[in-house]
Amino acid sequence: MSVDRMDTYATLYARFKSEIDSRLSEVVAQEKPVSIFEPARYILGSGGKRIRPVLLLSSCLAAGGDVENAYDAATAVEILHNFTLVHDDIMDNAPARRGQKTVHEQWDANIAILLGDELMGLAYRQLLRTTSNRLTDILKCFTEGVIEVCEGQALDKEFESAGAVSMDQYWEMIQKKTGRLMVMSADIGAMIAEARDEHHRGIIEYATHIGLAFQVLDDLLDTVADDSFGKVIGRDIQEGKKTFLLVDAMEHARGEALEWLRNVGLRRVTGDDVVKKTTALFHELGSIDRARGQVAVRTEKSLAALRSLPDGEGKGMLEWFARMLLHRSI
Ligand code: IPE
Ligand code: IPE
Ligand code: MG
Ligand code: MG
Ligand code: MG
Repeated sequence: MSVDRMDTYATLYARFKSEIDSRLSEVVAQEKPVSIFEPARYILGSGGKRIRPVLLLSSCLAAGGDVENAYDAATAVEILHNFTLVHDDIMDNAPARRGQKTVHEQWDANIAILLGDELMGLAYRQLLRTTSNRLTDILKCFTEGVIEVCEGQALDKEFESAGAVSMDQYWEMIQKKTGRLMVMSADIGAMIAEARDEHHRGIIEYATHIGLAFQVLDDLLDTVADDSFGKVIGRDIQEGKKTFLLVDAMEHARGEALEWLRNVGLRRVTGDDVVKKTTALFHELGSIDRARGQVAVRTEKSLAALRSLPDGEGKGMLEWFARMLLHRSI
């Protein structure tokens, strides 16, 4: 891809993001009740890559649609995503997100629970503003997405107290907790564009691979990222999360190393050196490399899934977007 084309896509990404940001600030412009709208502005105004709305808009474009018809739905998926983050942070005991305190740390868990509920309602309100012949299908898709994300989050929590989790169980869990919102966003973008079946299938396959690659990279960054990540490094290890790294390392470790990892998974080891020692094992056992390998392979698969789409700005944007996600450090 030429440098000029890459600049064009980076500009398009910036344009989509800034349009979403301004719509989000309109959604939470309301002053009262203060205990909802102050934290609402805090979380929605804290940055974020806006991956899901950009995926929705780009999918709409790639399927030949008019993005102007897709902005309400795109705003809705970002509001929904922020709801999942606020509740996820309570569930994961996370102190920081996007470089600032999490909502339940800045306020308290009650405020964070209620904010999540409000965001869910606001997301539906925004989605219902969409003008499309397929609004019922769009609402069904969104609703199934909400249900599946919650089920994925349930698996994530159940796995914390499970001794061992297989790779198959890991893929199923991340497909639900993270993949589903990506697929849902792409699907809704394609529906708004009234995409041809062949294009629609390609876009969904693309998003399926992107979603899995995205979560494996998130797991990896939780261990190897720098301060710009905006979340506290090593939290997954401390929480006994069955991330790609832990599941993979447990499959490859023997003896003392395996015993250590089992104890990490069950949160039976504490202290400052847990993250350090476990990270060193992830490197030694090859889990860091295999995680990088999975992200690369799944990104390639996502690109291959676009073969049936017509060449043009939309397809080019989806290709650029997949590569941008692969190289992200936050
Ligand atoms: C975080 O999502 C939750 C995961 C699914 C890993 P993002 O990494 O898209 O978070 P923001 O919105 O950019 O902060
Ligand atoms: C992301 O899982 C899934 C959802 C938020 C639904 P994580 O727990 O890994 O996300 P981060 O790392 O806290 O952003
Ligand atoms: Mg989390
Ligand atoms: Mg989580
Ligand atoms: Mg994570």
